[in-house]
Amino acid sequence: MYQYTEFDKQFVRARAAQHRDQLERFQAGQLTGDEFKPLRLQNGWYVQRYAPMLRVAVPYGEITAPQLHVLAQIAREYDTPDAALLAEAQATQDKIAGLAPKLTTNYGHFTTRQNVQFNWIPLSRSADVMDLLATVNLHGIQTSGNCIRNTTTDALAGVAVDELVDLRPYAELIRQWSTLHPEFAFLPRKFKIAITGAAEDRAAIGWHDVGLQMVKNAQGEIGFKVQVGGGMGRTPVVGTEIRAFLPWNQIMNYLEAVIRVYNRWGRRDNLYKARIKILVKAEGQRYFDEVEAEYRDILEKDGGLHTIPQAEFDRVAASFAAPVLDLPANSAEWLANAEADVSIEAAKTPAFARWMAQNVTPHQNPALRAVTLSFKRKGQAPGDATADQLDAAADLVAQYSASEARVTHTQNLVLPWVRLDQLHALWLQAKALGLAQPNIGLLTDMIACPGGDYCALANARSLPLAAAITERYQDLDELNDLGQIDFHISGCINSCGHHHSGHIGILGVDKDGKEWYQVTLGGSDGKALSGPTVAGKVVGPSFSSFEVPDVIEAILDTYKALRTSQGGKAEAFVDTLRRVGQDPFKAAANAARHPAEAQTA
Ligand code: HEM
Ligand code: SF4
Repeated sequence: MYQYTEFDKQFVRARAAQHRDQLERFQAGQLTGDEFKPLRLQNGWYVQRYAPMLRVAVPYGEITAPQLHVLAQIAREYDTPDAALLAEAQATQDKIAGLAPKLTTNYGHFTTRQNVQFNWIPLSRSADVMDLLATVNLHGIQTSGNCIRNTTTDALAGVAVDELVDLRPYAELIRQWSTLHPEFAFLPRKFKIAITGAAEDRAAIGWHDVGLQMVKNAQGEIGFKVQVGGGMGRTPVVGTEIRAFLPWNQIMNYLEAVIRVYNRWGRRDNLYKARIKILVKAEGQRYFDEVEAEYRDILEKDGGLHTIPQAEFDRVAASFAAPVLDLPANSAEWLANAEADVSIEAAKTPAFARWMAQNVTPHQNPALRAVTLSFKRKGQAPGDATADQLDAAADLVAQYSASEARVTHTQNLVLPWVRLDQLHALWLQAKALGLAQPNIGLLTDMIACPGGDYCALANARSLPLAAAITERYQDLDELNDLGQIDFHISGCINSCGHHHSGHIGILGVDKDGKEWYQVTLGGSDGKALSGPTVAGKVVGPSFSSFEVPDVIEAILDTYKALRTSQGGKAEAFVDTLRRVGQDPFKAAANAARHPAEAQTA
């Protein structure tokens, strides 16, 4: 992992001190709420439905065991409102008709953009939290506001067997370049970059303002395929390719051109039209030409100011060398024995075999595996981790994965450096902790935003629906039989839960002050199984919260009835959907409406 320099560490500590000063001036009445707001937002402090919300940056998803322990401490000691506020919030929740809402405290939430959020920390304690974060080099800088946000990446970078190029040094260089970039601190709107370096896109790059795919050209040189103008929201747009091959050392010069032209031309007059996707749609080739002209200027007039020197790349890349694991010298024999032992355990214990099949991924080093701890289980919201779970996960990360983990786009935690001969021991411990549900990639491994239970912008709640579906699909045989399904829920059109890219997507909508849900089918985030990145299509008028679980069941039953099978392997949900089209699914969904709830929207 990249190690912060003394300068970086001092900077993070100074930021925390600055926040304390701003908070104290606000508390003393020297700063108004309006004056304090942009200051706190610059350190990741929002104010949400019932309480402040803190977003902690996890640069490109890489996190250490000590950092996870500090997040656990924050969850345990700080993520608690006072009793009166909690009682008042719960009383408000209790008034909402629909599936039973229950607020919980003392947890962190892994987000789709590989950050961690807290929902209950009192603002008065925020400075102490920033100090604590700074002890392990964590902060909330650029997790809010119209700036370049955390770059998201493939959580399997550096270990995936289908990798062409290890993206992590490039992600780190982009982090350094984009952090406090003075020209891009006040863009027309937030700006999100995602990178993948593998054959399969596990970072949803098409749905980002800039999507970067690392490639090699015919000469074997490394470069980037660059897409711009992706995004969700009310107008889902998949990014357009602007460069098929950009030499690796030009990435910062080129991003500089892409964002500079957006900064100049983006619609600052209209919040809803301010994202780069709207500019790319409106200007098309004119925008691309301008970016190329700007890029030429940067190279010719500015001497390619941000061309990455080989020595600097080498310095950064050295931090990402694989950890030295204490593997035996006679590796061929050791490997054969370890593989045999794993097979014996799997044959003896079907639950272990299932976990191996679902949650354990092959590795570039045949002696290792990448293991996903599942944060998708009954009784807890997708991506939520209690203080104890964060501590326990940190211990597993320290013991089994060279102290390094990755937050995934799908709101789980990957342990990238697990020894083959330690898989069984890890499974036993993860299982005891409730972190070994063998459901990665399956229906219950869903993405969901916090929705109306926590978010002030929501039209409807996400979490009770997530809970209802999780509860209904607890049978592992049934889940496996349904196979890989991306199920994504957003509580409003801002699309934080990526509903547009779900094979099945749910969007909360508000009508007459009540919560309703639109269902979309056939979306894709670019993963191999899902086919090209595309937005799902709405199946029809929206459904009530009571109806949604039945609607989902009807859709899945339709799939089971219509799927084919080849060589004993069932056709995947998305493939059946694409082959037969939406109509039978639409009909089944609409037939599942409850008579009393039927409505026309
Ligand atoms: C509860 C606090 C949150 C608030 C107030 C919030 C607000 C927003 C808003 C306003 C947007 C739309 C911005 C635009 O299109 O210009 C947005 C986008 C987004 N948010 Fe959130 N968000 C919250 C939590 C989350 C969480 C927990 C996640 C991850 C699970 C998340 C992931 C995203 C993503 C991926 C997008 C980009 C969607 C796109 O491509 O347009 N957000 N958020
Ligand atoms: S999608 Fe809407 S409801 Fe969900 S977190 Fe984003 S802004 Fe809030």
